[in-house]
Amino acid sequence: MKNDDMLSKFPPLTSCRHIIHGGDYNPDQWLSSPEVLERDVELMRLAHINSATVAIFAWSAIEPEEGVYNFGWLDDTIERLYNNGIGVVLSTPSGARPAWLDIAHPEIMRTSANGVRIRHGRRQNHCYTSPYYRKKTAEIDGKLSERYGRHPGVILWHISNEYSGECYCELCRAEFRNFLKERYHGDIEELNHMWWTGFWSHRYRNFDEIDPPYSNGENSVHGLNIDWKRFVTRQTAAFMRNEAEALRMHSDIPITTNLMGTYEGLDYRVLAKEADLVSWDNYPRWHEYGVPESDTAVTAAFSHDLMRCVDPEKKPFLLMESTPSLVNWMPVNKLKRPGMHILSSLHAVAHGADSVQYFQFRKSRGAAEKFHGAVVDHEGSENTRVFAEVKRLGEMLEGLDEIVGTRTVSRVALLYDWDNRWAIEDFQGLTQNRKYPETCIDHYSYFCKMGINVDIIGRNDSFEGYDLIIAPMLYMVGDGEGEKYRRYVRDGGTIVATYLLSYVNQSDLCHLGGFPGEGLRELFGIWNEEADSLYPGEKVIAHYKSGNDLGLKGRFELSDICELIHSEGAEVIAEYDTEFYSGMPVVTVNRYGKGKAYYIAARCSRGETEEFYRALSGTLGIAPPLPDLPDGVHAAVRSDADNDYVFVMNFNRTPAETDISGYDMIVSERCSCGDKMRLEPFGTAVLRKNK
Ligand code: GLA
Ligand code: ZN
Repeated sequence: MKNDDMLSKFPPLTSCRHIIHGGDYNPDQWLSSPEVLERDVELMRLAHINSATVAIFAWSAIEPEEGVYNFGWLDDTIERLYNNGIGVVLSTPSGARPAWLDIAHPEIMRTSANGVRIRHGRRQNHCYTSPYYRKKTAEIDGKLSERYGRHPGVILWHISNEYSGECYCELCRAEFRNFLKERYHGDIEELNHMWWTGFWSHRYRNFDEIDPPYSNGENSVHGLNIDWKRFVTRQTAAFMRNEAEALRMHSDIPITTNLMGTYEGLDYRVLAKEADLVSWDNYPRWHEYGVPESDTAVTAAFSHDLMRCVDPEKKPFLLMESTPSLVNWMPVNKLKRPGMHILSSLHAVAHGADSVQYFQFRKSRGAAEKFHGAVVDHEGSENTRVFAEVKRLGEMLEGLDEIVGTRTVSRVALLYDWDNRWAIEDFQGLTQNRKYPETCIDHYSYFCKMGINVDIIGRNDSFEGYDLIIAPMLYMVGDGEGEKYRRYVRDGGTIVATYLLSYVNQSDLCHLGGFPGEGLRELFGIWNEEADSLYPGEKVIAHYKSGNDLGLKGRFELSDICELIHSEGAEVIAEYDTEFYSGMPVVTVNRYGKGKAYYIAARCSRGETEEFYRALSGTLGIAPPLPDLPDGVHAAVRSDADNDYVFVMNFNRTPAETDISGYDMIVSERCSCGDKMRLEPFGTAVLRKNK
């Protein structure tokens, strides 16, 4: 049991004491229409918006010519917002460059994986190594910080925008070689061993022979590929640090950058260390044809929990972007159905957000994003369906001050790791249906729906304080890392792992002596001798053995990957029924020290996986906050020392009822209370229970 101190609230993330409500605001696109700028502030106030994110892509408005600065419009914007009680999230403009900069210094334009430099245009495509670009961004960031870094209206720095992508230029290549020299202690033979370069005669004589994994060059050495990914993260983090240091020269205002959830390209646990708080941009595919909203909600919640947990302290995060209605970049761009905007926004708050922010406040008149949803439409008034829902949400958020800083307390942790993902997606073999994030979400689903909080942690994070660790597809267990898992279970923890467990070390070298390697064969009491792959649609059948540890019954289907494992002391919970491996174990449990280690050797459906965790949670006494949640109604809990706040969210297109006795209602939408609370389709309620 956690003590009260550990449950006290976090201080607010910024000087704003409320749930932040606002979003990307681009007055720099409307400087020739002063009446629009005046109207914007009126509309913000009407919509109960208390914050605006300004100047994200405003470099050419701030510095139209090299060394010629135009801060007048930004001074006016910040004053106007401040005078109206609207806090400013102020951005650095490094996400997009004015033409004069690229023309004078072409080396700051990124080089693609085929070695060809891109041309000027678009955004988020700079070389993160270029000393000149680092100098120029530090220069303009420093000027912003000097001018606005102590302004009481500025509540947060927003560095750049959605750092992403890779650069293969000569500068990056040289720096990659330095990175490798450091990683392998200047010893090329250490690198040759870890990358297994004897294969296809790829042995290097020195570091200067090594190239990045060009698309038309060496990209078959997995050790190289994964070190390149680590390098890209390191360079991006260094680029970000360069910006942060320039801001911190004149300012104590907290710093963030907007992340992208399960985006594959950067290890966000590394990037998050450069910021004071985590923020992220969330665009779920609500109302995707044939996909229940309840499933989309599980996927979105997973990203929220991941983003909450990449913060080293697991503080609340900011939902930096979301759309009030629709986006413009999906193959089919659906409108959020009535109720969905409030539901999806409170869903983020339920999973740890202390803000609801949008892309974008006003629709731009021209260029790529003119049809992207916004609080204010081209029509220009408050008389739209979307504006009304934003406004209603704004009123509700004003009733939720007491949520600010509350915690997410989790007894369950699920491992999701970027190195592991890179290695899984890179290896050749088995099936192309790797589905690493999807599998993690399958294993998260039961808890998410029931309102049992889950922390999403990495291989290097602590296991302390968790009653259950879930490690789906943990293919990579580095040299020396196995003891952490053994100790956790020996001391009484429960762990669940699946197929692909511990095949390789941190350099993607296979463990010798039988999978799962790194001493996990002993922990799980199994030996995984071979793995079979199934064609899409092909199934293998299995059944639970009677009287098994979890009391599970019946037959179930398996797909994609079926490992042929032998028990070496583990109790067999389920066995294969079909195929030449019929009779071999598929689900096992091994008692080890004071704890238990479960192994699932093949891919089960999400529904079957949920049943497994329902049974397991029962044996561990991990109970949902509301006992009778109907299907499709999800919950999540935030807490402080005195109260639990339960968010109840109906993702169904039909009404549902649940018993909320013992709770007070703080805010709700599309809900009514009789004996039970009735939630209309997409209805949401926030409840409080004094402990
Ligand atoms: C991203 C960007 C925004 C905008 C939105 C559109 O999240 O950060 O600038 O392009 O997408 O959905
Ligand atoms: Zn580069």
